[in-house]
Amino acid sequence: MSLIKILRKTCRKSLFTTPSHGQKYFIFNKFRNFYKYDISETDFYNPQEALKEAQQHASKIYGTKSTFFLTNGSTSGIIAAVLACVQKNEKVLIWANSHPCHSNAVKLAGGIPVYFEVPLSSEWDVPLATPVENLEKCLVNEKIKAVIITSPTYEGIVSDVRAIKTLCEKYETYLIVDEAHGALYPFSENLPESAVKIADFTIQSLHKTAGGLNPTALLHCNCNLDPEKAISMINTTSPSYPLLASIEANINFLNSKRGKKQLETLISNIKSLKENCCNCEFFGDDVTKILVKHKNCTGYELSKYLYEKENIEDEKTNSKSTMLLCGIGTGEKKLKRLENALKKM
Ligand SMILES: Cc1ncc(COP(=O)(O)O)c(C=O)c1O
Repeated sequence: MSLIKILRKTCRKSLFTTPSHGQKYFIFNKFRNFYKYDISETDFYNPQEALKEAQQHASKIYGTKSTFFLTNGSTSGIIAAVLACVQKNEKVLIWANSHPCHSNAVKLAGGIPVYFEVPLSSEWDVPLATPVENLEKCLVNEKIKAVIITSPTYEGIVSDVRAIKTLCEKYETYLIVDEAHGALYPFSENLPESAVKIADFTIQSLHKTAGGLNPTALLHCNCNLDPEKAISMINTTSPSYPLLASIEANINFLNSKRGKKQLETLISNIKSLKENCCNCEFFGDDVTKILVKHKNCTGYELSKYLYEKENIEDEKTNSKSTMLLCGIGTGEKKLKRLENALKKM
């Protein structure tokens, strides 16, 4: 039975078990429904089995060897992937400007981080793709146990994951792809190719672009290592089944006709916004990320104008450009409002 169905079943027995709210005592009344579904494993509820089945089903959808549901973000997936393949004193190649969880993961595994520089675009002030040739130079010079790359970047720059995987195979190195910002990729041919079927480990945040609740995420595995032990080392023994059920529902939605239609609508709405804003330039490999520059102002000025004059808040800004994050929940009306604001400048 799916996790979602298990949570729908109500239990009439008296449970002297955790959690102590007993699904009926609502200290925070606004979250009544959340309390109702917040269960632990009991003789009546067996969400652990359901979770296993849901994860197996997800793995079929993504075409991976295994897929794991995470309720502590991509951060926990990256740490688990590194713990699964790196031993004490082994070297791990990471981007010098990567998300802090990359170096934290290496520290927790007792490994040695080896940093490599990713070029910055001087025009847009954002990191570019992983330079494959430079990466090979690092792999030739030192014995590297694992490589972690970020693809896409926050701003939607995608690396050549296939070429990097081939390189990693040549040097017998595990490839971990931080695809935190690319959770929609497996569900549309109009988006860059996902790493889920290519890399040894791929980590995706469902909450960033795919409509998931904070901080739901996925760890996909395609190698002969089993990250389950590593996941259990860093996870609580009392997982949130409502969050896990939301992951199951999230994947089912993305894989459904309705979800795919919603995604294609999002893509075509953003494409038309970009075509209609002739006074702006856009950059990046991922159409769903709006990395924008206006010829008459800096990124900070653009951000200030949007915030103060148009009540629009961006995700990230630098001296050259501004990034507005979109995802499955970004509706046409909101995009039109942004389009009008950009056109007015
Ligand atoms: C590139 C990248 N990797 C990993 C993370 C961590 O993701 P999460 O918030 O799901 O733990 C982030 C968060 O912003 C990120 O930008």
